[in-house]
Amino acid sequence: MRIVILENQDAVHQRAADLFCTLLDQRPDATLGLATGGTPLGTYEELVSRFEEGRVSFAECTTFNLDEYLGLPAGHPESYLRFMEHNLFSRANFDSSYCHLPDPHIEDPAEACRLYEQMIDDAGGIDLQLLGIGSDGHIAFNEPGSSLASRTRVKALTQQTREDNARFFDSIDDVPTLAITMGIGTIMEANSILLLAIGSGKAEAVEAFVEGPLTAQVPASALQMHPTVTVLLDPAAASRLKRRSYYEYVENLQLELEQGVSRHPNG
Ligand code: PGA
Repeated sequence: MRIVILENQDAVHQRAADLFCTLLDQRPDATLGLATGGTPLGTYEELVSRFEEGRVSFAECTTFNLDEYLGLPAGHPESYLRFMEHNLFSRANFDSSYCHLPDPHIEDPAEACRLYEQMIDDAGGIDLQLLGIGSDGHIAFNEPGSSLASRTRVKALTQQTREDNARFFDSIDDVPTLAITMGIGTIMEANSILLLAIGSGKAEAVEAFVEGPLTAQVPASALQMHPTVTVLLDPAAASRLKRRSYYEYVENLQLELEQGVSRHPNG
């Protein structure tokens, strides 16, 4: 895992947007895995600004979101489809026919899950998957105890997740209890993964998944088994990491390499 501790949350969003823009520059028809929640909002703002400045185009890309609530009426303002339309898709040149979320209105949710896996497969898999992390260590809606090999399926949300998400609803009673979510096995098939964490509320989960054991009790710890993960943190989210100075040292070396600075004494 490449652990990058940046000076503040703006820098996290800039760096995240850089990674998306670099990919789309190289491969305009890349397949992006997208996320909802408070964390990616700043990244989406940055991508929209860069689109408005003519620095990036989304016209040819395909997107798959991680998850969607089950049980909200179609068009509900807190559905993840509406979230994505409002915060990203309608603000740049996405082709809505290429933008996918699990469909919570198919009568048989198991069929919706199977179809979603099929669509990801048909698209040739996900090139870059964006993730946040729950305060309980979840990724997408894979709550603690989720199989590390799980596929897209229906999951019950924990009380902690419903409390965390209650800020988007009038009351916690309005937060759905179920969601369709990509599984951990599905997420792990993405070519590369970008996880963002901001704020002290995420510090414990970040410490657990980066430095703790691989365990279904911390679903994000599965990322320890993925070869290409970048974790972008602000100082508060990184505040419990014990090996922080090592991560900073490695990151500086990595940046020097990427910028082509010769380490040869005569170079
Ligand atoms: P948040 O949620 O970005 O709203 O904190 C992250 C998550 O639950 O994955």
